[in-house]
Amino acid sequence: MNARSPWNAERAAAIVEANRHLRGNLLPILHALQEEFGCIDEDAVPLLASELNLSRADVHGVVSFYHEFRRTRPGRHTIKVCRAEACQSMNADGLIDHIRRRLKVNFHETTADDAFTLEPVFCLGNCALAPAMMVDETLHGRVSPGRFDSIAASTLAAEAAR
Ligand code: FES
Repeated sequence: MNARSPWNAERAAAIVEANRHLRGNLLPILHALQEEFGCIDEDAVPLLASELNLSRADVHGVVSFYHEFRRTRPGRHTIKVCRAEACQSMNADGLIDHIRRRLKVNFHETTADDAFTLEPVFCLGNCALAPAMMVDETLHGRVSPGRFDSIAASTLAAEAAR
């Protein structure tokens, strides 16, 4: 499951404090904020600018440059589908078309029920078992459209059983 904590300025300030000593501290702090809150909240930009003595444009530029930083909160689960060569050769595009149709989203979007966010990824290190995808922290290989459907269904079933 993805991080779901709502933005909290005090908690964010504590994260800044805990990571301030790190070399090149902006990136580790952004990662830690995203880990905690699921995205880089717009209030993080002025906070980091003032705490780290940077301009807002500097902070915003870094957040925009790195695709891994999200500006909106993700769904409860993130699906990362590999688009690199080995998976392409095993019809990853067909799988992706199926997932888009099934979830009614494109990449970087979240389903209407907030359950899944779909992201592209370039090689999950699972090339021998292409096409590959990751759901939250779990890697899956040889994913057919039918297998995708059962993985998505069991992800939701496991969530309901909690
Ligand atoms: S190319 Fe898809 S896992 Fe390596």
